[in-house]
Amino acid sequence: MPFRTSVQPYESARALAQGHLAVLPTETVYGLGALATSATAVGRIFTTKNRPADHPLIAHVLTDEAATAWARNVPPFARSLMNEFWPGPMTLVFSRSSRAADFITGGQDSVAVRVPGSPITRDVLQELCSFRDDPFSAIAAPSANRFGGVSPTTAQHAIEEIGDRLTTDDVVLDAGPCAIGIESTIVDCTADRPRILRPGKVTAEDVAHATGMQLGGSSQVRAPGMLAAHYSPRASVLLVEAAELPEQAVPSGAGLIAPSGVPTPPRLVRLSKPATTEEYAADLYRALREADSLQLSTVVVVPPSGAGLADAVRDRLTRAAHA
Ligand code: TXA
Ligand code: MG
Repeated sequence: MPFRTSVQPYESARALAQGHLAVLPTETVYGLGALATSATAVGRIFTTKNRPADHPLIAHVLTDEAATAWARNVPPFARSLMNEFWPGPMTLVFSRSSRAADFITGGQDSVAVRVPGSPITRDVLQELCSFRDDPFSAIAAPSANRFGGVSPTTAQHAIEEIGDRLTTDDVVLDAGPCAIGIESTIVDCTADRPRILRPGKVTAEDVAHATGMQLGGSSQVRAPGMLAAHYSPRASVLLVEAAELPEQAVPSGAGLIAPSGVPTPPRLVRLSKPATTEEYAADLYRALREADSLQLSTVVVVPPSGAGLADAVRDRLTRAAHA
């Protein structure tokens, strides 16, 4: 194994402070972290993931105060969101301060910041701030998959994606499976009202409720990661309604991901049967990965119904199904 595996947040923080990479768990998905103020370290994120250089990264910080230091203007409605949902699975986009260099923002005038909620991620941030004697230290971290692939929700999945590109100075922190399992909600806070750029566990309804505002419908902000075809396994993903399942002409031996109430037709291989929408989100990327490791050519997916988190799951499924 070319890299080091650890369960000590301290080890990851030291590697980050020294300019190396760290694979980190968060409550959403595993990230590939680098010190957000090091052009060289951040540059390695892009080469490791094969990510285009103009795709901006999220800066993860310990506190609201640190997040504010990365922003130039924090409107009152964003304060309400910070109070309500941070630390947690929500990323806010602000106009950037001078801390946010072009290599983080993809050259845009905005920066994405998140105060993560997972205790182990917070421990790493805390240690990093002490190492550097800077309470506003940030970790730039995209999901730890190769560009366009499925986000990892375990350390093992991250290693399968990018392990061969890590070095002996890089550290993988293993804290078991991520609790939420899909990426953070991204809210653009650069206009006069909030706008959702990527749905997640914090829902549009949550954002409207916390801010007392109607959400904006269009934004000048570019979110280049939000490509139609994204989050894709190698297998082709076929979305069907439960009622259509018996009639669907699907190849024998295809995989099936569906809520637990949906029975498995004899010719399909059941990959996941979540009992709730939360379970659906938490198990989805593992199940898509299993389809690939079983070398299935097709995965049939019955999406979860309802609003909120189910919307976010359907968003990822639609992207995964986009050929
Ligand atoms: O849950 C998450 O957000 C995970 C964990 C590791 O924190 N991170 C994550 O990062 O999903 P990534 O890079 O895979 O997705 C970040 C998304 C991309 O679609 C990117 O385009 C968008 O955030 N983004 C970053 N900075 C932005 C900015 N300044 N304006 C608009 N979108 C931005
Ligand atoms: Mg990603």
